[in-house]
Amino acid sequence: MTIRIAPSILSADFARLAEDVGRVEAGGADQVHVDVMDGHFVPNITIGVPVVSALRRATPLPLDVHLMISDPDRYLEAFASAGASILTVHAEAVKHLHRTLTRIRQLGVRAGVAINPATPVDHLREVAAELDVLLIMSVNPGFGGQTFIPRSLEKVSQARALLQRAGNDAADIEVDGGVDTTNAGPLVAAGATMLVAGASIFGTADATAATRALRQAALAHA
Ligand code: DX5
Ligand code: ZN
Repeated sequence: MTIRIAPSILSADFARLAEDVGRVEAGGADQVHVDVMDGHFVPNITIGVPVVSALRRATPLPLDVHLMISDPDRYLEAFASAGASILTVHAEAVKHLHRTLTRIRQLGVRAGVAINPATPVDHLREVAAELDVLLIMSVNPGFGGQTFIPRSLEKVSQARALLQRAGNDAADIEVDGGVDTTNAGPLVAAGATMLVAGASIFGTADATAATRALRQAALAHA
């Protein structure tokens, strides 16, 4: 299974975004994780469609767009046109999840669903076969730099089992929140294939080295 490292630009310098993305590219990042927050679904406001368009011009890496917004259906087309490669919606923010996933795939984008720490993995049972990415939030969404919730490790195992039962073992399991070199290995061993990291990459003095170190830690236990 390929392990993908997804640095989250939430902890980058927004005034020097292209430079910071260049640093993680140099460290072998596989995709750029873009956190979109609306101040309604989560208690923070970050960035939107224009920044995704600008990033699309600034890097060849796939853009992994995490929509922490209420009623994301309204913006799927705009983010797809802006250049998103993955669009992940929150199960807690969508009324008709199956319809939303179908729509994302129709737009030619990989479809992801995120679940908050309080949402059970089993909530996704009926859509498990329709997922390209199942994102386990390992912190409560809204901010970078929070502490990994240990219980998330068990949720990754449960998610891998769910995807296997659905005949969709090819789907990625992404983990987002408090990921660093201490938990990357166990997460991969439990079935994670995409690791998001903000503070543990951009919060260090050398984002290039931190990207490499995270992959090494992930592979050490793979
Ligand atoms: C949190 C975001 C994360 C965040 C992760 O709501 O979804 O992507 O940037 O940041 P760290 O790795 O610092 O926890
Ligand atoms: Zn995120």
